[in-house]
Amino acid sequence: MNARVEAGRVRVRRATEADIAVLAEHRVALRIDEHGLPLEARRLARDATVATYAELIATGEFLAWIGERDGAVAGSVCAWLRRMLPIEDGRRPLDARVQAMYILPAQRRSGLGTALMNALLDVMRELGVRRVYLHPSDAGRRFYPAFGFSPSDEMELILASKESL
Ligand SMILES: CC(C)(COP(=O)(O)OP(=O)(O)OC[C@H]1O[C@@H](n2cnc3c(N)ncnc32)[C@H](O)[C@@H]1OP(=O)(O)O)[C@@H](O)C(=O)NCCC(=O)NCCS
Repeated sequence: MNARVEAGRVRVRRATEADIAVLAEHRVALRIDEHGLPLEARRLARDATVATYAELIATGEFLAWIGERDGAVAGSVCAWLRRMLPIEDGRRPLDARVQAMYILPAQRRSGLGTALMNALLDVMRELGVRRVYLHPSDAGRRFYPAFGFSPSDEMELILASKESL
């Protein structure tokens, strides 16, 4: 039997306002993994994320998906849409940034991230999104190429440290 089926029944659904708290928990967990967010900063980070997600989801520019295994939340991912400046024919393409892809540690490597990413990309294609981009984690660098992601040629300049903002 296929290992992904043995691992349990996976379901991906669009997140609603009711999922904002869990989406924020996942973003904070990701930041703890990546930046070692100190204990005292976690509640502030979670509350600020809840407020920001609520604002952005209400505008329609921020979409999110929840991944469930056997009926329990096991991961999530978000996409932040941006209408770009006009191209030659006057149309304004949509770009989307993937944000906060996160699978609970015990649920990793059993297909949930793939199911979430496929759901996100299906909707991006339906919406006519021109480009999907993201900043990969170390694990992400090995996960995203299978969907067609490749390194881009953007440059950046950090003008202010987190402390000075
Ligand atoms: C990266 C992440 C989203 C992948 O989700 P997942 O559900 O574990 O991924 P899948 O089971 O669908 O993996 C599909 C394939 O991607 C690759 N892959 C995923 N995670 C990997 C890792 N840590 N190292 C190497 N390859 C990896 C493998 O080829 C894997 O197939 P395999 O398990 O048959 O070898 C998940 O591990 C995660 O949430 N990590 C912590 C947070 C994070 O890094 N998020 C990404 C931010 S950009």
